Amino acid sequence: MLPDWNKIRDDFTVLKRTINGKPIVYLDSACMSLKPRQVIDAMNEYYERFPACGGRSIHTLGTEVSNAYSAAREKMARFINAAHPEECIWTRNATEAINIVARSLRFGDRSKIVTTSLEHHSGSLPFVERARRDGLHVKVVKAQDDGTFDIEDWKQAIDNDTRIVSVVHSSNVTGTVAPLRDIVEIAHDHGALVLSDDAQFAPHHPMDVQSPDVDFSVLSIHKMCGPSGMGLLYGKMDLLKDMDMFLTGGDTVADVRFENGEIIPEYLPPPEKFEAGLQNYAGAIGSGAAADYLLSIGMREIEKRERKLLTIAVKGLEEIDHVHILGTENVSIKTGLVTFRVDTVSSAHDVATFLNDEYAVMVRSGAHCVHPFHYQQGIKPSIGTARASFYLYNNEQDVETFLEGMRQLVDVSS
Ligand SMILES: Cc1ncc(COP(=O)(O)O)c(C=O)c1O
Repeated sequence: MLPDWNKIRDDFTVLKRTINGKPIVYLDSACMSLKPRQVIDAMNEYYERFPACGGRSIHTLGTEVSNAYSAAREKMARFINAAHPEECIWTRNATEAINIVARSLRFGDRSKIVTTSLEHHSGSLPFVERARRDGLHVKVVKAQDDGTFDIEDWKQAIDNDTRIVSVVHSSNVTGTVAPLRDIVEIAHDHGALVLSDDAQFAPHHPMDVQSPDVDFSVLSIHKMCGPSGMGLLYGKMDLLKDMDMFLTGGDTVADVRFENGEIIPEYLPPPEKFEAGLQNYAGAIGSGAAADYLLSIGMREIEKRERKLLTIAVKGLEEIDHVHILGTENVSIKTGLVTFRVDTVSSAHDVATFLNDEYAVMVRSGAHCVHPFHYQQGIKPSIGTARASFYLYNNEQDVETFLEGMRQLVDVSS
């Protein structure tokens, strides 16, 4: 059965709000998605019925938390098709997940990291800092100006000295989807690992961490209808076991002995090894509810819906003078977002302010934490670009209001 998009829209209570008498047009989901009532209800249930601590407390409320917490992990594992729920580690966000890998992965006798000029700063900087710390080398694959990659560049960059490749699966600035299957094949042929930054991919496309067979994947759950402050690290079990500790302390240990005046810890296997301290139980439960919510609609249907909206938006923008789309306009290789600049205004913030104030249309402006690609395009980060991103709760009327606002903006500013 095809999804009823009007009914789905009703799940997002915030869309009933008006600002200055105008209905909200929310086009900033690539930054933070809205939350359906199913996710809010799941979190409220935790606070209202069993707001206790999981794992440590064996009383009734504690047991209910532990059960809900592990059920949520199983839901996330199903969402990304992980072989084992224990390969899924809760984090605060995708950034923390990448930092865990960048800081804790052992390099052995390899000394090279490969990343790209299209990476979100969270995908590159943790590795840049690791390289500085340990005298490693970072090789940057330059994205083409349309946001795609030349596979030959990957073949040249990855060699037998490469320990890990950190690549953005779907770009938050051009929306382009990287050729992950080819990258994984090249990396694995050289014995290198691949971390796929799925912060933008996971909310909008069917996920399968086993095909292509990535070694690590990171999710930003607040971009996929889940609560803010939640992310996920997926890692293959043997790699997670072999990694150094990131944070340690309570809940990470099977035992801590005290012998001959020394404290000697015996750590638990993953995921506990990486989940130190009392956890965000409501956040995890809400994340599981978000995964279930999206799967119940169907990721293929969501992908199709967004592509349809994006097609209208891109076509409409192309028809407006002075608007320049960043990266390719070929929507068939894009996630549901379009980034652009307007040469009649002095900065992208003017675009966002005008659309917000005059039309209650909310877009993102700035350099989207991807300064290198803006420099590559000759755009100063302080001038930046504007980005409209679409999700399952947007409709054709939203796109039309956005385009109307854009036409008006260019009219008054040229
Ligand atoms: C591609 C990409 N990677 C990583 C991140 C960081 O995600 P988080 O805010 O969950 O740390 C973002 C956030 O916008 C992103 O778009």
